[in-house]
Amino acid sequence: MQGGNNLDPWYHHYADRAAGLKASEVRALFAVASRPEVVSLAGGMPYVAALPQDRVIDAMDRVMRHKGATALQYGSGQGVPLLREQILDVMALEGIKANADDVVVTTGSQHALELVSKLFLNPGDVVISEGPSYVTAMVIFKSYQAEVDHVPMDENGLIPAALIEHIAALKASGRTIKFLYTIPSFHNPAGVTLSWERRLEILEICRSNNILVLEDNPYGLLYFDKPAPDAIRSLERDGVVYLGTFSKTLAPGFRVGWALAPHAIREKLVLANEAAVLSPSSFTQMVISEYLSTADWKGQINTFRGVYHERKNAMLSALDEYLPDLGWTNPAGGFYVWVTLPEQLDSKAMLPRAVKELVAYTPGTAFYADGDGRQSMRLAFCYPTPENIRVGIRRLATVIRGELDLLETFAGTGALGAAPDRPGTNYQRYAGPPANIS
Ligand SMILES: Cc1ncc(COP(=O)(O)O)c(C=O)c1O
Repeated sequence: MQGGNNLDPWYHHYADRAAGLKASEVRALFAVASRPEVVSLAGGMPYVAALPQDRVIDAMDRVMRHKGATALQYGSGQGVPLLREQILDVMALEGIKANADDVVVTTGSQHALELVSKLFLNPGDVVISEGPSYVTAMVIFKSYQAEVDHVPMDENGLIPAALIEHIAALKASGRTIKFLYTIPSFHNPAGVTLSWERRLEILEICRSNNILVLEDNPYGLLYFDKPAPDAIRSLERDGVVYLGTFSKTLAPGFRVGWALAPHAIREKLVLANEAAVLSPSSFTQMVISEYLSTADWKGQINTFRGVYHERKNAMLSALDEYLPDLGWTNPAGGFYVWVTLPEQLDSKAMLPRAVKELVAYTPGTAFYADGDGRQSMRLAFCYPTPENIRVGIRRLATVIRGELDLLETFAGTGALGAAPDRPGTNYQRYAGPPANIS
């Protein structure tokens, strides 16, 4: 084969856009971390065991008995009409008023991200996003040969002044900004939430710069004590494409998400959806629709909140006990805690050692398009039990202590410097491994 290499004879045949498709750290980790003896704080898998299986079986049974022929058939490229109406009720919980005609059902919100990117991104375009940001969104942006420009966050989410600066710098250098990709509530991976005041400010900044907002909100309903501020889409209809999903509030195996878009964009999204999949699965849409009509879905979301709240508390109290000198965010909902390590440590380099100690996490570098994030890691508390979370953090503390010992030995100084202040964490000065690590 001409132009190939030893590993892949088609190497030189791929389109340029395929160069952006590289296995992420998260993906590689799933294989290792799925071994039962490893406590995985890496993946963001919802705890679907908390879902009443009987309710789902009932819904499937009724769909097949009463509407089987429709459920097994191709459907509309925009999605099942009744489900689109019900999605309006879900979004109303976060202040969104909309028309079912502007909802497009997709194969998970991941596919909505893909479709929006396909519609908007040319090679060389810029997507502005929080830094850090959702890893698999960045994989998509890169696969369309766009560049991701990260704007920093603090404990109240994206920093408006920094956004203004970044937009000005990008414009000054002649770059084309296509949209702001943001996860305002219970951010993946940072765990922080954009305050209401900042939602107003950021929307205004985007409006005045003619920048579309792509609001990705998989976790908004999974709050612990009080609801997140209303969605950005509740404030603005024309400048926002909003993405939602049933993956976290119900189950990801259905692969049902949606986009709510301004009318003209919605038309193009339907065409792109048809071109990609003809129609999203009629069967899973109808099962979800049946479930929403007959089960106590709001009560179910409440149950999930309780489960995740307990696990978040378990994680933070274990961090307090075993790694009190590190910095971390305190999420008010969602699945993730963002941890800042001592300056000397590199979360990516430390990972093999952690897996050897039977604990897995996601290195911060996975969440930056530019290789930043070595001093950070994402810990997910959604899947392991509170007991296992404790075990995992204890093992992590052993790993961190070991790394610091090693560094001290080789540096020969014994002195540990302070890490720089990092936005989005409660970073404190790292004064050496605490006595209570066991
Ligand atoms: C921020 C964010 N967006 C989108 C997705 C994709 O979700 P799905 O395709 O299951 O709806 C995820 C999944 O973890 C996510 O965390």
